[in-house]
Amino acid sequence: MWWLKLCLLISSTSLCLAFPASPTSTACGSIVNNPNTTTFNASFVYECLTSVPFNPAVALGFLDYYNDTLQFQSTLTYLKNPPSSYQQPGVDLLGGLATLKNGVEEGIFPNQYEFEAALQTLLYAAHDGHVTLNAGILAAFSFSSPQDVVSLSLDGIQVPEVYLVKDLADSNFTKAYQPSPITSINGVDVVTYLTTFAGKNSIGMVEPHADWNQLMRSAAQDIQGYSNTFRLATFYPGDTITFTLGNGTNLTDNFQATYYDPGDTGPLETGGDFYNYFVLGLLPASYDPDLVDNNLVNITALELSNDDTTTTFLTSASAAATAAPTAAPTTVASSVPTCESWSNVAYPACANVSEEDLGTFGGGFVSGYFLSGTNIAVLSIPSFEGSDAESFDSAIMDFITKSQQANMEKVVIDVQSNLGGEALLATDAFKRFFPNINPFQGSRLRAHPAADVMGTAITEYFQLFNSTSSTYEDLITDEWVATTKINADTNQLFTSWSEEFGPHSFDGDNFTATQRYNLTNTLFDSVAVDDTNDNFTVFGYGSNSASANAVPAYAADDIIILTDAICDSSCTLFVEMMHHEAGVRVVVAGGRPVPGPMQGASGSRGARGYTTYELDTDIEYAQEILQYNGSANPFFLPNRTTELNVDVTYANINLRDQVRENETTPLQFAYEAADCRIFYTASTFYNYTALWQYAAEAIWTTPSLCVNGSTGFASSAGAKSNLTGPSPSSDAGTITANDILGHLNTSDTSQIPFLTHNDTSIEDTIPAKAVLPLKCESNSDCITLKKFNHVCAKVTLCDANGNPEGQSLRCLPACTPSPLINSGCKGNERCVLNVETCPTKGHCAQQNPNSNSPTFSSTNTPPQGVCDLVCVSGLITVKKSGVAPS
Ligand SMILES: *[C@@H]1O[C@H](CO)[C@@H](O)[C@H](O)[C@H]1NC(C)=O
Ligand SMILES: *[C@@H]1O[C@H](CO)[C@@H](O)[C@H](O)[C@H]1NC(C)=O
Ligand SMILES: *[C@@H]1O[C@H](CO)[C@@H](O)[C@H](O)[C@H]1NC(C)=O
Ligand SMILES: *[C@@H]1O[C@H](CO)[C@@H](O)[C@H](O)[C@H]1NC(C)=O
Ligand SMILES: *[C@@H]1O[C@H](CO)[C@@H](O)[C@H](O)[C@H]1NC(C)=O
Ligand SMILES: *[C@@H]1O[C@H](CO)[C@@H](O)[C@H](O)[C@H]1NC(C)=O
Ligand SMILES: *[C@@H]1O[C@H](CO)[C@@H](O)[C@H](O)[C@H]1NC(C)=O
Ligand SMILES: *[C@@H]1O[C@H](CO)[C@@H](O)[C@H](O)[C@H]1NC(C)=O
Ligand SMILES: *[C@@H]1O[C@H](CO)[C@@H](O)[C@H](O)[C@H]1NC(C)=O
Repeated sequence: MWWLKLCLLISSTSLCLAFPASPTSTACGSIVNNPNTTTFNASFVYECLTSVPFNPAVALGFLDYYNDTLQFQSTLTYLKNPPSSYQQPGVDLLGGLATLKNGVEEGIFPNQYEFEAALQTLLYAAHDGHVTLNAGILAAFSFSSPQDVVSLSLDGIQVPEVYLVKDLADSNFTKAYQPSPITSINGVDVVTYLTTFAGKNSIGMVEPHADWNQLMRSAAQDIQGYSNTFRLATFYPGDTITFTLGNGTNLTDNFQATYYDPGDTGPLETGGDFYNYFVLGLLPASYDPDLVDNNLVNITALELSNDDTTTTFLTSASAAATAAPTAAPTTVASSVPTCESWSNVAYPACANVSEEDLGTFGGGFVSGYFLSGTNIAVLSIPSFEGSDAESFDSAIMDFITKSQQANMEKVVIDVQSNLGGEALLATDAFKRFFPNINPFQGSRLRAHPAADVMGTAITEYFQLFNSTSSTYEDLITDEWVATTKINADTNQLFTSWSEEFGPHSFDGDNFTATQRYNLTNTLFDSVAVDDTNDNFTVFGYGSNSASANAVPAYAADDIIILTDAICDSSCTLFVEMMHHEAGVRVVVAGGRPVPGPMQGASGSRGARGYTTYELDTDIEYAQEILQYNGSANPFFLPNRTTELNVDVTYANINLRDQVRENETTPLQFAYEAADCRIFYTASTFYNYTALWQYAAEAIWTTPSLCVNGSTGFASSAGAKSNLTGPSPSSDAGTITANDILGHLNTSDTSQIPFLTHNDTSIEDTIPAKAVLPLKCESNSDCITLKKFNHVCAKVTLCDANGNPEGQSLRCLPACTPSPLINSGCKGNERCVLNVETCPTKGHCAQQNPNSNSPTFSSTNTPPQGVCDLVCVSGLITVKKSGVAPS
């Protein structure tokens, strides 16, 4: 009952301005079949989205699959009733799913958009960067403001105002004149408008200050090739946006939307066709692999007619993965650079230390700068992902050695916009600074019946193998193998799954014992970081031990960490070790335009994000083992392939909580204030040398630079978690759990249209379409092959077992890399930047499009990556096809 009341209440305050489209709209067809662009007016995309019909049976099936998935989410009860230290509203995820199910049964969803928007809103309310769902029709688009904004304080002390980034660039960052701040957007006070926008669209931040920062332009994001949430929003923001400036000027423009072109879709015209393709993964009946461009062009005929020039690479798209790669690409010998750095005006032009292959499209992320005329050295670590473990480690080591040689006395570690990556690289960096500390790094799973069945089956199976077998190696880091992990209570390896499982009861739910990684085990470390030589050991452990009396190169008091709150996953682990275990102070920049404290590491503080792809593989693996063992009930959960009835691009949950020694509440819910908060100013937001110096001064010489009321809230090293939070608790200014239906425009159930195909096809499995990407020698080959928005890139092919097998040049979809937003990649593909691409034939190289133009661009066109088929990644264990021991 309250469901319907809520609908009416919320629909009257809906932000959406346009009216839903009729089911006969051909907007979707016009978008999919437009060969010229993937950018459209937001209202046209909304017309497409709302013309997509809703099928309650499919939605109910998916909710069952997702409900089974959420049993593995580690924070369910804490999220439902969070401690007062938690700065976001609580949300009952399982209850919310039940509510949605009820709504589907009552027929309240007029179209697929309304259903998906309601589900996404529920999941965003978890404010956990490890809880994402990129699926269905929402995965096909993102919405964008036509302008970047940033929030700056005039002098660093006054509360910030919001500016158009373009105005700041035009004014040379206020050197010449004072730009006029934005006072309102679409007639609503600018702070209210942006706070609401941030609350709805920002993913995975534990406090509203961090949601706010996610909307702002940032150089730390530019260099990684991803964009802010004002440019990559999930929900329809309305037709137009009017910025009213302080001097009375009004600027009006359309909201934009980007279509993530999946390649040839066959002829799609109606919302029903769109549903079949993007929700069910079904190609239209008239799909013909010969034909592209809405069946207007015969690609096979085109290939044949281009025979002379293309036979060397245009082999059949279904050629075996084992086909020998064509002529090896040659790398253009580039002029020897005088110095390495990020090619971005915010960063110094020359780094004093840089990781091998540093660059937006390179594999390296770490760089170091010794600020001239000071004793301050800066270590920039914008990511723990993608780096080669050896080169990451040597860059950190290099920084410490060279900064000491240069007589540096203070260190600023900049982790702005660090979305995490490999936990073991975060640990490695920590140990290089503090070889004398053995960090705790405890974590635990939710202990529920399905987890128990999986852990029992997979741990017992693992124990059949000795350490020289490849199955042993495949499973050594597996989440369901207990006996390679340390029991934090005994400091010995678990001897069985049941010892790990417990269960231990906290907060009305059950959890496993707390586990720690056994980092002295080189094979474990190497598999975890995907080291192909199998000889990587985290610094400070086992064969890579520090000397017994090693002392830190810098005292904790001489180091600060600088964050913009957007510090997720492994980045939060790094901050936890540096601050809580070593006593390093944290400076956080930005936040909502109000004084007071702010937390430094505000992304997911969970220990392990886990994709549904990994989870499905694990569940089916356990089911195969049980079947092989003749178990009476191998199907402890429904078959995941059968149960998953819709096309999921990418989805994940938080599998393990990060917990402190002798504590039980997950770190996700603790209040961890930074030692000092600073506001960005016009002279620091795009000049990091100035920003780093400002942060250093705020801690070491001029505490008055810290925002009013922002100091004195930080915990000291080793202190218990603060589960109370600041008082009065910060004004969240963001969505409440009751807003889960906030995106519904209408509750008029008479408008529910029906699918354009019959029920049996819903049961069809997705057609086996394991077609390899087309071969190419240059980007123009991809255009010839009608693969628009694709890049010719050198990729590693995987064999049927998921093992790397040879390299080849293929047309791959371009994408925007970020674990938190639509990346445009499918299934097990990852959006990667560190691949070789071939703009022209024979000229293949690691690309960094900014390398020759280190200028500030106010129109944000983030460099793009490509969707690559990653064979083995991080802690993912690729299962061998044969399960039974022979
Ligand atoms: C695409 O561009 C071509 C050439 O400019 C033009 O003729 C065609 O009408 C455009 N198609 C659409 C759908 O805009
Ligand atoms: C979700 O799964 C749990 C456990 O299997 C079950 O008790 C509950 O009824 C399910 N909820 C919904 C909405 O299907
Ligand atoms: C900003 O700098 C550019 C190049 O130095 C110059 O052409 C332009 O006039 C400056 N703008 C203002 C508003 O001073
Ligand atoms: C108002 O401010 C904007 C941006 O700072 C500027 O471009 C515009 O010329 C100003 N308009 C007036 C009337 O001063
Ligand atoms: C700008 O828009 C506001 C709000 O719609 C309106 O009140 C104001 O008159 C407009 N100003 C100008 C100069 O058009
Ligand atoms: C496409 O062209 C090829 C080669 O000319 C031909 O064999 C094939 O039948 C054509 N396909 C269609 C659907 O016209
Ligand atoms: C380990 O297993 C492999 C393959 O099953 C076998 O060849 C080898 O002898 C075993 N080694 C030991 C030490 O048991
Ligand atoms: C926790 O585990 C115990 C023992 O297995 C069980 O009796 C209890 O129902 C479980 N509690 C929850 C909330 O699942
Ligand atoms: C961790 O692994 C090493 C190497 O495999 C092993 O020798 C050691 O016993 C393990 N640690 C513990 C606490 O058992």
